[in-house]
Order: sequence, then structure tokens, then C-alpha cells
Amino acid sequence: MKLCIALDHIEKDENIKLCKSLKDYDLWFKVGFRSFIRDGKDFLKEIKSINPNFKIFLDLKLYDIPNTMADAAFEIAKLGVDMFNVHASSGREAMRAVMNRVGEFENPPLVLAVTALTSFDNETFKKIYGEDIEKKAIEFAKEAFLCNLDGVVCSVFESKKIKENTKESFLTLTPGIRPFKEESEDQKRVGDLKVAKEQKSDFIVVGRPIYKAQDPKEIVERILREI
Ligand code: C5P
Repeated sequence: MKLCIALDHIEKDENIKLCKSLKDYDLWFKVGFRSFIRDGKDFLKEIKSINPNFKIFLDLKLYDIPNTMADAAFEIAKLGVDMFNVHASSGREAMRAVMNRVGEFENPPLVLAVTALTSFDNETFKKIYGEDIEKKAIEFAKEAFLCNLDGVVCSVFESKKIKENTKESFLTLTPGIRPFKEESEDQKRVGDLKVAKEQKSDFIVVGRPIYKAQDPKEIVERILREI
């Protein structure tokens, strides 16, 4: 299991300061919309320059027509990030186009598909997708698997079921982790490290419990010891 820290501080400097304080650890960092739109490629380069072994997950959740998604995927792969994601609901053709295009690279980034956004409640989700979240999340995961993606972004409570319906090695990345049962804040379905282990999650995403901690280094060490 790998730890992926969400770089969700408001300012770039604070995110960089956090990366620097953790430079001795084997870590993944998740860069989202705000940081990437504002701080761009330079931000990614700066993270890698702190420790070349740091891995970057660029969380841009692509959703568009197949040709446009493949073009975007090509540009993302050129950035040298280690993982990025697309929406599974963009469909087979789009996911296949993305995989074909990143396949042109010698060391392509891992590609994950978002199944269901955790902000949806079942009723809202059903209005859009016509089915219950849990059922549809498994279907989306199977589609992504058929299209040769590397894995999915899913709730920690769906990880094991998704592996059972695809393959043990099909990666699951699970946000909403409160490692030691910290405050869940706006997250609806949170799980701790024990749940993540039981559910065989490959990547746990942790944001606030780390970057808002008094001593982020101390909590990162505790998490790394446990996983
Ligand atoms: O602070 P916290 O640990 O809740 O942060 C979780 C991170 O994972 C945030 O960056 C959030 O946007 C992201 N995320 C999520 N649920 C998803 C996909 C991404 O919480 N389904």
C-alpha cells in the first residue's frame, strides 16, 4: 500500500514547504485542479527537484470526446507525471484512445478511471447515471479494466469488490482516508488504515489529516510504519 498526500494547501509555497519537510520519505503527491491551473508545469518540476523519487499523481479527471482526451493524455504523459486519471463515464472508446496514445511512451504513466465521485449521494447519482452507485461503480471498474487501464479511483469500501470483479492486480486508489480515525470533515464515507488494508487498497489518499497536522512529518512516519 502506498501513501499519496493531497497537496491541497491554498498557496503553492505552503505545498512546496510540505514536500520539502517530507523529502526523506518514499511518497506520492496528488496535484489537483487548483494547483495545476495556477502553478502549472513548474510546480510539478519543483516537486521532482525536491526528491527525484517523489511520484506525482495529476488528478485532472479527464472527460471529453475520445480524440480530445487522447491528445490531453499525450500532453500529460509528456509532463513526466507518474499517474493521472479520466472519468470511466467518458466511455470505452475514449478510454481506449487514451491508452493507445500513452502506450506510445517508453515509460507511460499509470492511468486510473474515476468510478463515482464520493460527493454524490445515491439519489443524485441515480438521476444522472440511472443506477445505484455501488452497482454502477463496479460496472465502471469492469469497463476500465476491459480497456486496459491500470486501475480505478473508488471509495475504500468498494476496493475489494472491484478487485474480485476484475483482477487482484487492478489498482485501487482510495480517497477519504482518516488513518487514525481523525475528524471526517466534509467526507461522507471515510475509512481508517485498518479498513484500507482489509479492502486491499493500493493507494490511500490523505489530505487534511497530514497537511493540517501540527507535525505532518510525525503523522507521515506513523502511517508509513503501519502500511
Ligand atoms: O483532506 P482529504 O483527505 O479529505 O482530501 C482528499 C483528497 O482527495 C482531496 O484532494 C479530494 O479532492 C480528493 N478526492 C476525494 N474524493 C474523490 C476524489 C478525489 O476526496 N472521489
